[in-house]
Amino acid sequence: MDVAPPTSAAESGSTTAREPQHPAASVGRQRWSVGHGLRQLAHLPHCGHRPILADLRFLRDSLAFARDVHARCGPVSHGVLFARAQVLLMSAEANEAVLADREGAYCARGGWEPLLGRLFPGGLIMRDGDDHRRHRRWMLPALRREALARHIARMVPAIEAAADRWAAGPHLDVHAAIRELTLGIALETFLGVAPGSSARAIGADYEALVDASAAVLRLPLPGTRHARGRAARGRLEHFLHRLATERVRAPGQDLFSQLCVAAAQGGDAPTRAELVDHMVFLLMAAHDTTTSALVTTVASLAVEPQWQDRLADEIAQVAATASAASGDGEVAEVLRLDRLERCGWALREALRLYPPIPTLARSAAREVTLHGHRIPAGAPVTLFPLLVQRDPRWWTDPDRFDPLRFSPERAEHRRHPGIWTPFGGGAHMCLGMNFAELQSRAVLRALLRRVRWSCGPHDRYDHAFAPIGHPRGPFTLRLRAAHVPGADGEAGHAAPR
Ligand code: HEM
Repeated sequence: MDVAPPTSAAESGSTTAREPQHPAASVGRQRWSVGHGLRQLAHLPHCGHRPILADLRFLRDSLAFARDVHARCGPVSHGVLFARAQVLLMSAEANEAVLADREGAYCARGGWEPLLGRLFPGGLIMRDGDDHRRHRRWMLPALRREALARHIARMVPAIEAAADRWAAGPHLDVHAAIRELTLGIALETFLGVAPGSSARAIGADYEALVDASAAVLRLPLPGTRHARGRAARGRLEHFLHRLATERVRAPGQDLFSQLCVAAAQGGDAPTRAELVDHMVFLLMAAHDTTTSALVTTVASLAVEPQWQDRLADEIAQVAATASAASGDGEVAEVLRLDRLERCGWALREALRLYPPIPTLARSAAREVTLHGHRIPAGAPVTLFPLLVQRDPRWWTDPDRFDPLRFSPERAEHRRHPGIWTPFGGGAHMCLGMNFAELQSRAVLRALLRRVRWSCGPHDRYDHAFAPIGHPRGPFTLRLRAAHVPGADGEAGHAAPR
């Protein structure tokens, strides 16, 4: 089955009237049917999995799929995956070459648009070249450190309140709890929408949109997940257009207000329609990814109680020493979170083992050679961070959760620029990386101040990588009140906040 990418902004449902084209995007859009693609790629090793069966295998166990393909074919192969004949690239060298893209040989739009274009048209990841630079430059101030400090300071009380609720019970459905929290935070900090019925309705539309982006069938046939996603997108666009008018009139502290005010000044700024496209994409980019990072960190720590204690020690130390030194302002909160170095290692290690976005998409803008293999112009290529981040060539005991590998003494992630890429790299490197990192540290801190956790008696964490990492089934933690490490086994006392 070949899924035809949208041929015009109107057909794709985009609010953006006319977007500049990258040369490779048009190469891929005009000619790359499955049959044509398979003929173009026939000189490359075949991945050994038939169309559709490859998708099913990948969805069932992405890591086993990637290991199998790599064992058969090495770093470069081809096959039909996600309804496209494409090149599968599985090496640190390929990650570096494609993401850094020093020669302008790859196109992000050609890679991502067939997967996301109908539901998230105009998103930053689907822009290339000067157009991408202009839009990224325009969005950057809203996520700069000063703005971040304001967002973080506003979200910390919500995180602490959620942790209070979580700590009240003996069990926690960790995915549901964290997902609800990160969505609430995203709506409040990005849009300025406080919890309540409006937030619930927007949240439900977001869930439908994200759910649709995971559907194998990407045609808006009535009753399908895709059709529901398209309807949800229509409602969100309508809401955001109205909200933009309000935010220009009376800006708030939220990110959308900042962008609306900048857009209203005209000049190089995007149009209102482009702004709406950016917001729809940004919420999607931020929400499930951060949830995934947090869930896998918490799940990894569940079987490493000594790491929970080490991180709690660090949190207590920073609380004791930093508040006197740094005061109470917004920036002080960021400085305190910055100092949670070990929490940072634990998060990075979970991102290594379970990258929330397990594969990255591009297309070749012109013919290129990788690992001695010719990749023709227009070919879609997929990178596999989920495999490279566990490659024993680069990582010691790669399947083990070992945060110390990120310590300055070991710094395994510095062995090659292409081995740790959970946030991508190069021009499209995640714009929300610092935001995600600080938010995740704040959630870990709130949890560790209150509780320690282990897996339920019949629970073991079973991770599904695709399309965005999540637990395969229900995953419940057993909670107990936090004790100061070293305190006797009795009732104990909560660690200092
Ligand atoms: C742990 C959480 C996150 C992970 C693992 C993650 C991962 C990624 C990755 C891998 C890319 C690059 C995709 C590519 O090159 O093809 C990306 C891009 C992006 N991310 Fe994130 N992300 C996270 C959180 C966030 C947050 C919180 C935001 C917003 C505040 C955000 C906004 C974006 C945007 C706008 C892009 C597109 C950048 C561009 O094309 O220039 N992400 N993210």
